[in-house]
Amino acid sequence: MTIADLNRQDILDQSRATTLYEWTAQKAMQPLVVDHAKGIYFWDVDGKRYMDFNSQLMCVNIGHGDQRVIDAVKAQMDQLCYVAPTLGTTATRAELGTLLREITPGNLSKAFFTNGGAEANENAIKIARMVTGRHKIMARYRTYHGATAGAIALTGDPRRWAAEPGISGVVRFPDFYPYRAGKELDDPGYTADVLRATEEVIQFEGPHTIAAMIIEPVVGTNGILIPSGDYIRGLRELCTKYGILLIADEVMSGFGRTGRWFAVDHWDVVPDIMTVAKGLTSAYVPLGATIVSDTIADYFEERPLYAGLTYNAHPVGCAAAVACIKVYKEDRLIENAAALGEILQAEYGKLREKHPSVGDTRAIGLFSLVELVKDRTTREPMTPYNPKPSELGPMPKFNAFLRANGLFTFVRWNTFFVNPPLNITEQQLREGLAIIDEALNITDEAIA
Ligand SMILES: Cc1ncc(COP(=O)(O)O)c(C=O)c1O
Repeated sequence: MTIADLNRQDILDQSRATTLYEWTAQKAMQPLVVDHAKGIYFWDVDGKRYMDFNSQLMCVNIGHGDQRVIDAVKAQMDQLCYVAPTLGTTATRAELGTLLREITPGNLSKAFFTNGGAEANENAIKIARMVTGRHKIMARYRTYHGATAGAIALTGDPRRWAAEPGISGVVRFPDFYPYRAGKELDDPGYTADVLRATEEVIQFEGPHTIAAMIIEPVVGTNGILIPSGDYIRGLRELCTKYGILLIADEVMSGFGRTGRWFAVDHWDVVPDIMTVAKGLTSAYVPLGATIVSDTIADYFEERPLYAGLTYNAHPVGCAAAVACIKVYKEDRLIENAAALGEILQAEYGKLREKHPSVGDTRAIGLFSLVELVKDRTTREPMTPYNPKPSELGPMPKFNAFLRANGLFTFVRWNTFFVNPPLNITEQQLREGLAIIDEALNITDEAIA
């Protein structure tokens, strides 16, 4: 029997017997057996079609199965699969570096290529420490930066706990979450309070000990937390004032997701280091990057950059990224994300009016989430923070309804996301939202 002869049950059984699934008790995992995908859709082995309303893991930004990227990857493999990064360079590496310099803001100028987002953040930590000669890294609680040793220590959510005590020198500073603080996004008092508390942390720790502050400019899995302009510009100013490097983790928010190339572009904030992955290749093949300012790049002109990976600047990854960036441009996907983001906001307004279980909706471009509550007045969340399976209330039934109706998205605790591929059409977006509209009757009933 060949692998091609395996039926759905064989695939499930053999996967279960021989492989480990991430972030879950193995018995709790009920995987879909996915067969193929095109555009905003994927199909399981039984031929059932799903709308992909989360771009898988918020990464397939250009949509599935784009022939232009597939052809570029094939062509690269035909020509050259690999070259040792200590030995040489390639045309695709040169082209990708040039494209990234063009699309990243300000003086971000040189990219160090990795296999994914976590490694991009590991190298950001290392570079910040080398350049400043300082040790501490400031990070927030409601954030995820990856699962390797340093990145998971910077992560604030419960995925960090199993890796504790983690690396030394991680310092937490306050989150920016107006809805949970009972405030509005544009409340200037709230912004000022959070910035003041952040500056206090810097003073308590000693600015001369802090190498960098890492932020997701728009927080992803921990709640699509959109900053006020004054808040994010305020963080930039604090970093400049105290000689702290600002690292923008754009692994999830980058590459058009928010309706601009990068989330920081909304507020004209230029970080000293930007980390990217996911949308860089739209996950066609793995690739990440740590992109540094010209000042940081200059530092390494005369001093060695103590960083390396066997797959650094992998030609196949670079070829995928070059092709992918051309697709964003040719198909005007970032403009599409911005335009459909407006429609999404308007539709969210209607869902808020109609469904009492909808507490808050937050959207920027096609990066968005709905936060469900038991009570709109108290804002009590539909589930506790980090709920046990028994505390999920109506969420599993809500998710099952979506799946049964051919819609896949990411449902986490008391929230669910709408992050479709950026090539989605208005009609497809409305179709998916109509399924969500119906599913919300389930969460409404749970609190009636
Ligand atoms: C903001 C952010 N940073 C870093 C990472 C880690 O990226 P990777 O899983 O490619 O290591 C993720 C992954 O979801 C992320 O969302």
